[in-house]
Amino acid sequence: MGVIKDNPIGMFDSGLGGVSCLGQGIYLLPNERFVYFGDSGVAPYALLSKTEVKNLCFNACDFLVEKAAKAIVVACNTATSVALADLRKKYDIPVLGIQPAIKPAVSFGLTGKIIVMATSMTLQSKMVDNLIDRYGEGYEFVKLPCRRLITLVESGTIDGIEIEGAIKECFKDLDPNNISTVVIGCTHFGFLKKAIKKVLGNHIRIADPNEGIIRHLKSILEQENLLTDKMIDDPMVEIYNSGGEVFIENSKKMLEKYLLRIS
Ligand code: DGL
Repeated sequence: MGVIKDNPIGMFDSGLGGVSCLGQGIYLLPNERFVYFGDSGVAPYALLSKTEVKNLCFNACDFLVEKAAKAIVVACNTATSVALADLRKKYDIPVLGIQPAIKPAVSFGLTGKIIVMATSMTLQSKMVDNLIDRYGEGYEFVKLPCRRLITLVESGTIDGIEIEGAIKECFKDLDPNNISTVVIGCTHFGFLKKAIKKVLGNHIRIADPNEGIIRHLKSILEQENLLTDKMIDDPMVEIYNSGGEVFIENSKKMLEKYLLRIS
């Protein structure tokens, strides 16, 4: 089947986290259609083996290709870190992968520690070390795995005392006064920017890769003449989730909240 410009953009994540990237996509590309797949039935990916994660990524992309995706965004840093190169080999449509926002964090040029919040699989990957080697000279980075936060976001909790308590617990060995920047290195944490600032203080800058990847996607679609010419009034989004209806409903609620916060 030929790829056409009115086909949807496909996105996937291990679960609900990528919905933050979807929100940014809808905000910056309001005329596009989107099809989103969350793999909450098996999340978190970071607890699986790399081979299992790769296989799940192939399944997710096969599903999105069946839904006629004209491009795919891997809206999961963990999946990008283990599978992006192989996915690009298999599919003949553009495949982009989100990565922790280390380059944008460095571009702020602030004095103080840069905290990279991501899964342990992402933090142990070459992807993160390569980004730090390439852009981070002269900066001090701290790798912070925050597993409990993923579980909470998967259950739809993105505000309130429970999530704030869990953020405090993650940062318990760090003095907020010595931190300049927090890097969002897991799409689940794209929902927690407000809560992170509430816990650590307003002086903290947050570097989130969602905007950058959507701008990159836009330029690729432009180059390949794949941006739609249609004008639509309401976002056209289909959401699927291997965990079933509750996760789909939570995804929709979280998408709504995200869109309210950025608009
Ligand atoms: N949202 C995923 C990421 O960006 C979470 C990973 C997981 O399921 O372990 O890395």
